[in-house]
Amino acid sequence: MRPSLLEVLRCPVCSSELTLDGDGLDCPGCGGAFEIEDGVPRMLDDRLSGIVEKRREIDAWPAKAREEGWYVKDDAIDLLLPAVPWDDPTWSANEHSFNLLLRRYVKPGQRVLEVGAARCWGALHMVPRGVDYVATDILADPVIGLGRGAFYERHVGPFQRVQADGENLPFADRSFDLVYCVASLHHALDARKMVREMARVARRGGVVAALNEGTRAPGASEDNPQQSSEKAYGINEHVHTMWAYVGAFVSAGVAITRLEQAEGYDVIRQRRRLRHVLRVPLVGRTAATLVTQNLSEYSGITIFGRRLV
Ligand SMILES: C[S@@+](CC[C@H](N)C(=O)[O-])C[C@H]1O[C@@H](n2cnc3c(N)ncnc32)[C@H](O)[C@@H]1O
Ligand SMILES: [Zn+2]
Repeated sequence: MRPSLLEVLRCPVCSSELTLDGDGLDCPGCGGAFEIEDGVPRMLDDRLSGIVEKRREIDAWPAKAREEGWYVKDDAIDLLLPAVPWDDPTWSANEHSFNLLLRRYVKPGQRVLEVGAARCWGALHMVPRGVDYVATDILADPVIGLGRGAFYERHVGPFQRVQADGENLPFADRSFDLVYCVASLHHALDARKMVREMARVARRGGVVAALNEGTRAPGASEDNPQQSSEKAYGINEHVHTMWAYVGAFVSAGVAITRLEQAEGYDVIRQRRRLRHVLRVPLVGRTAATLVTQNLSEYSGITIFGRRLV
């Protein structure tokens, strides 16, 4: 573990600074003890809110992946992510939104935190851009969780991984220039709390972004049939409206700078009526996003903002 990481690591239960003790970290504030395995600090704790549900999700992902046949280390594919060579609406929305993040918000020298990083494919793009990248997730699994980050380290060089709950981030206030997640915020048991935590660990003026979060129109059911398989395994799935995400950002003190259809605008461009909305000068995309988010039963949103104070 790099000294720069220890400097910003905090106890997820009581926020105290931690002391390095052999193969682990101790909290002088509450007596908590956290192991470091293969260089990855394990910052979950039985005292954290919702930990039973989160541990259930940790077990559920590999079980689902095994049964569906994607519990594999596929080096060739993992080096392409998020651009998969087959038609997949989720990955293509990840790709569109992530490319926007890279183009508009990522600068060399930044300290970047990803929440819900899973395999850590973000490292492929962040580390070569000269970014100090920290990947976090509750899932430390060697194939589909943070353990797979070792593979990416061999390709792009070292970065830090921390097993952590996005609703109880084990970092000091204002530690990062950019804090983002991809399709992970909707797994939070309390999405407002996760956004608050992401904003807390971002510096003043720093970027806070949630990429490709599935949404529902205000009248649509909270029971999205597309999530039923995950839920059956015990994965914490939710579908919020765009307004719920906007409210979470604003109440966390984050000014929204861009609201984007997660998948971009190619589909909208083919729709006769919405095509005209897109052409409105300056606000066409935002207007098309608002119409889609409020009228399409299920959709996906990408939100960028900056921490105000
Ligand atoms: C749909 S996957 C997306 C993973 C990755 N961002 C990607 O796009 O490939 C959701 C991820 O969120 C993680 N997750 C769920 N609840 C979490 C929490 N409370 N804190 C941090 N990560 C969480 C899961 O373990 C999983 O890796
Ligand atoms: Zn503590």
